[in-house]
Amino acid sequence: MRSTVLGAGSWGTALGAVLAGKGFPVAIWDADGEPLRTIAARRENERYLPGIPLPETLRAEPDLASALAGAELVVIAVPSSAVRPVAVQARPWLRGGVPICTVAKGVEADTLMTMSEVLEDVLPLEMHPYLTFLSGPSFAVEVARGAPTAVTVAGRWDRVGKMVQEAFHTRSFRPYTSADVAGVEIGGCAKNVVAIATGLCDGLGLGSNARAALVTRGLAEISRLAMAKGAIPLTLMGLSGLGDLVLTCSSEKSRNYRVGFGLGTGRKLEEIQHELGQVAEGVVNARSVHLLAAKLGVEMPICEAVYRVLEEGEDPRSTVSTLLARETRAEG
Ligand SMILES: NC(=O)c1ccc[n+]([C@@H]2O[C@H](COP(=O)([O-])OP(=O)(O)OC[C@H]3O[C@@H](n4cnc5c(N)ncnc54)[C@H](O)[C@@H]3O)[C@@H](O)[C@H]2O)c1
Repeated sequence: MRSTVLGAGSWGTALGAVLAGKGFPVAIWDADGEPLRTIAARRENERYLPGIPLPETLRAEPDLASALAGAELVVIAVPSSAVRPVAVQARPWLRGGVPICTVAKGVEADTLMTMSEVLEDVLPLEMHPYLTFLSGPSFAVEVARGAPTAVTVAGRWDRVGKMVQEAFHTRSFRPYTSADVAGVEIGGCAKNVVAIATGLCDGLGLGSNARAALVTRGLAEISRLAMAKGAIPLTLMGLSGLGDLVLTCSSEKSRNYRVGFGLGTGRKLEEIQHELGQVAEGVVNARSVHLLAAKLGVEMPICEAVYRVLEEGEDPRSTVSTLLARETRAEG
């Protein structure tokens, strides 16, 4: 299956390698020529996945039209803030009837649209049934090394979800399908904000009990938001909900967790982000999740606490005290 990956960051490159590893001809494109140059010259994405050899059939292509020519599957793997401009740029060369798989996790800052809503806004109606969304517990570096990974592919048309599932399926990469686009999208987006909270908790040295409470209560508030967007509650118990939350909230490989941890130890946000050198979606999405929750009347105290620390410069320690001092209530 001839495939095109838009975005040569860590996730786009890892997914491109999965597809190319099956022998598919894969073109990978990015607005930044640097990762493309090292892929072409050394079969390695030196900046985002250093030291990992990439398959011969992964072709770096700096021209967008050439990258998309003849594509039978298009993967959009840029940060959520870039999905709209990239889709607008790609639109003239996208063909009808071709599955489009978006892997960005976020809610658009100005419009508060999820990625499916952004793409439905940008692309013609006949392409909407071909939109799919891949999410789940998946660190790019592990996928690129062939470590066992399971993810969810959500799509409104089962047949298209199955096509994408089949395209990605390997001995070590196992996609499940789901018809619950909203559930998969909100789970993937809001867990990054909760991961900042658990990082903060660990940076402040509050202990394992506190982290487990944040993960559990975090899942409860993510589920409330997802349901307000029409999700099925059970989706949040799956790979793209609980699975991704557990991964992101408990590993130093998570950029969002590292942002929280750094803030908890008293470091400045700008310094931590500069050191990461890559997108930490939770930082951008703390604001959009906070605004979306307010718009839909959903209570999300943990995400709101993260928003206050990031956007209003609130002291993390007093934020945690405020969280604990909230009025007591029944669990649920
Ligand atoms: N890295 C992971 O392990 C992982 C796993 C699952 C999901 N994701 C999600 O995938 C998305 C991408 O993450 P990533 O880790 O690959 O990010 P990254 O920071 O490693 O790379 C992002 C890439 O997008 C490119 N880009 C940014 N704006 C662009 C634009 N306007 N036009 C074209 N290219 C543009 C950048 O040049 C860069 O190569 C995020 O939403 C992230 O949450 C990442």
